[in-house]
Amino acid sequence: MDLRSSFCFTLLMAFLLPLPLSSNASTTIYIAYMGEKKHEDPSVVTASHHDALTAVLGSKDAAIKSIVYSYKYGFSGFAATLTESQAEELEKLPGIIHVKPNSYHETHTTRSWDFLGLNYNEQVGLLKKANYGEDIIVGVVDSGIWPESQSFDDNGYGPVPTRWKGECQTGQAFNATDCNRKIIGARWYSNDTADETLKLDYMSPRDSNGHGTHTASTIAGGRVRNASLLQGGLAAGVARGGAPRARLAVYKACWGPRGSCSTAALLAAIDDAINDGVDVLSLSVGGVETPGTLHAVAEGIPVVFSGGNEGPVPQTVGNTVPWVITVAATTIDRTFPTLMSLGNKDKLVGQSLYYKATASNSKFHMLVDGYSCDTETLVSINVTGKIVLCKAPTQVDPTPPRYALPVVIGRVAEAGAKGLIFAQYTVNLLENLYACNGSMPCVLVDFDIGNIIASYAASTRTPVVKVSPAITEVGSGVLSPRVAAFSSRGPNINFPGILKPDIAAPGVSILAAKGNFYAFDSGTSMACPHVSAVVVLLKSVHPDWSPAMIKSAIITTASVTDRFGMPIQAEGVPRKVADPFDFGGGHIEPDKAIDPGLVYDIDPKDYIKFFNCTLGPKDDCDSYIGQLYQLNLPSIAVPDLKDSVTVWRTVTNVGEMEATYHVAIEAPAGVSVSVEPSVITFSEAGSRSATFKITFTARQGVQGGYTFGSLTWHDNSTHSVRIPVAVRTIIQDFISDIA
Ligand SMILES: *[C@@H]1O[C@H](CO)[C@@H](O)[C@H](O)[C@H]1NC(C)=O
Ligand SMILES: *[C@@H]1O[C@H](CO)[C@@H](O)[C@H](O)[C@H]1NC(C)=O
Ligand SMILES: *[C@@H]1O[C@H](CO)[C@@H](O)[C@H](O)[C@H]1NC(C)=O
Ligand SMILES: *[C@@H]1O[C@H](CO)[C@@H](O)[C@H](O)[C@H]1NC(C)=O
Ligand SMILES: *[C@@H]1O[C@H](CO)[C@@H](O)[C@H](O)[C@H]1NC(C)=O
Ligand SMILES: *[C@@H]1O[C@H](CO)[C@@H](O)[C@H](O)[C@H]1NC(C)=O
Ligand SMILES: *[C@@H]1O[C@H](CO)[C@@H](O)[C@H](O)[C@H]1NC(C)=O
Repeated sequence: MDLRSSFCFTLLMAFLLPLPLSSNASTTIYIAYMGEKKHEDPSVVTASHHDALTAVLGSKDAAIKSIVYSYKYGFSGFAATLTESQAEELEKLPGIIHVKPNSYHETHTTRSWDFLGLNYNEQVGLLKKANYGEDIIVGVVDSGIWPESQSFDDNGYGPVPTRWKGECQTGQAFNATDCNRKIIGARWYSNDTADETLKLDYMSPRDSNGHGTHTASTIAGGRVRNASLLQGGLAAGVARGGAPRARLAVYKACWGPRGSCSTAALLAAIDDAINDGVDVLSLSVGGVETPGTLHAVAEGIPVVFSGGNEGPVPQTVGNTVPWVITVAATTIDRTFPTLMSLGNKDKLVGQSLYYKATASNSKFHMLVDGYSCDTETLVSINVTGKIVLCKAPTQVDPTPPRYALPVVIGRVAEAGAKGLIFAQYTVNLLENLYACNGSMPCVLVDFDIGNIIASYAASTRTPVVKVSPAITEVGSGVLSPRVAAFSSRGPNINFPGILKPDIAAPGVSILAAKGNFYAFDSGTSMACPHVSAVVVLLKSVHPDWSPAMIKSAIITTASVTDRFGMPIQAEGVPRKVADPFDFGGGHIEPDKAIDPGLVYDIDPKDYIKFFNCTLGPKDDCDSYIGQLYQLNLPSIAVPDLKDSVTVWRTVTNVGEMEATYHVAIEAPAGVSVSVEPSVITFSEAGSRSATFKITFTARQGVQGGYTFGSLTWHDNSTHSVRIPVAVRTIIQDFISDIA
């Protein structure tokens, strides 16, 4: 999905006008949430929705007409078209927990799996132990699916698991044969989508924009040999998902070229998915803080979300409720070096996605220095038919380079240039080269190389350059992973006591199915399905683990160093060492997550208490609300440390019965940390879990920013159970460092 799209929120709200209704007061869609369903029979649950609405609207007819979606399987509630005052009246009725206006969200390879160590042919390790995810059902809530893609071929699959209760809903260009033993279910939710958007899409589970097909094939696509970028040869290899034998259940709730998804439709999809029998839910969409996912988790279904593409700006991470896994995006060890030959025989290297070399492109072209390539400069310099050198601004610019680059590409293409060489500081912008369509050479170089090219251009009357098509290089020497610049960052502004994001996974230039081809996409939308696939594999190996245990195993075994043993970096301006607000516990290590030693488990009742005190009824929550960090998560965030704070955690042993763990602490700067007890011993006869106490004490009398550390339990063999820690000291209430 286009990275810029997450910024088109306002535009989109205008695009998706509420459904017009004949009433003088203006109506819009509201979502009424009624908590757990009070009856097993869905028709009884629906009747209770009709009763509530009848009380407000006066007649049962009007009630039925106003309902857009009815949630009756996983939880109880409905979406209905109402006026503001009707919504207020509804909220006062007994049994209604809250009423909120509907909102709209944006939908935010193959090398990546080997990079993560999940080698297909490896005889040991998670992939093999999980039997490639065989018979785990993963629900993908997204923009639908392109069933003809080779990635969804069902050759060699056994019958659909008998516990599956889902459906294959047909529609435009999607008939019953489009579901098979791989795509075992498909549903669509268009009741609250504007006609203008629907016109641009298929009225069926078929995916018109490619996002859903890309995410689904990243999670569970079968092996497809010889896939490459638009079959053009770049990034060539075997394309496959992380859990290549898992079954797919598709829920299309995102519509149109922008992939817009409403909360009301997402809730309907989640409600059905719980009832259909999915084992894991994957949602690469933005900003959905709803209790619907809580019901899925309470049913034992882990829910994985993308964290958003608004980085590197702080406080941008979305999907921040504690029961979901929120994913940040990283780069992988693959580059596309592109050779540039100058007229003076110098050879220089940059990176591009240039692969469709034509006879005209693969010869020498005139070279011209376009300086900043702003509109005025391009008027004064004739770039027609030439390859133009442009430089990213070096002074502080309100537009981050990833937005500036496509603008520059458009400008030079319009001016008739044959190609672009873009000099920039070190930040990965490769994904922004799509605007060049693979057929115009657009090469990214660092400033040093830009300067060499500029001085060559100034040194001769007829400077020329030839750009060769990019090649694909993987592995050695590529500094990776790095947190992608666009990946949204913490702290969590909704719930500062809950650390987000949780984990990082590959999300830059991921090759996966789009329609009948294979194409790159970048975003936390691409990182999310990587984690979903690992969750599928873990679920297969440990069917008895709760969603919290699976999440804990993933976070506590993550890596904070790269392949060279150096701290993982986060792209941004400037690039820096990554901290938990960039990548949560770190970069996912699937093979380690299989055997974490200890896990931090959570009883779903604790999530419900959290919900009641934050998004829900807020009864009797005064002491709770300031202490969100007491939730037994595999991370600790203390947003307001005055003097000292005591945090409790409980770990459960899932390793050998007999084990002794010692604590190791990396204290955040300015804070002292003590843990009691500092040694935990598990024995066959004793309890499988142990509770410990962490005391944080501020060492300095300053109003501080966040500082970071970690807490790790080590046994004497392979287990190292690490959780990230973020603490901000607040010395007095009446000091502010914001000025
Ligand atoms: C959409 O609305 C129709 C008509 O009101 C209703 O029958 C259908 O169940 C709704 N769809 C979903 C998914 O709830
Ligand atoms: C269903 O779609 C497939 C592929 O699009 C097509 O080959 C088949 O004839 C269709 N079947 C029916 C019954 O329309
Ligand atoms: C693989 O794809 C490339 C590029 O599309 C093509 O030239 C080559 O013949 C294909 N190889 C096989 C074995 O299909
Ligand atoms: C710009 O350069 C191109 C190619 O060298 C030439 O054909 C064109 O006439 C020039 N335009 C102007 C306005 O000088
Ligand atoms: C790339 O393709 C799009 C759509 O086909 C087109 O609008 C755009 O101008 C092309 N860009 C370049 C640099 O050729
Ligand atoms: C949460 O609120 C609901 C509805 O008000 C109540 O029934 C339930 O007991 C509460 N649960 C917890 C754990 O506080
Ligand atoms: C490691 O643990 C095992 C069993 O818990 C014990 O037998 C062994 O002595 C320990 N080794 C060290 C070096 O502490």
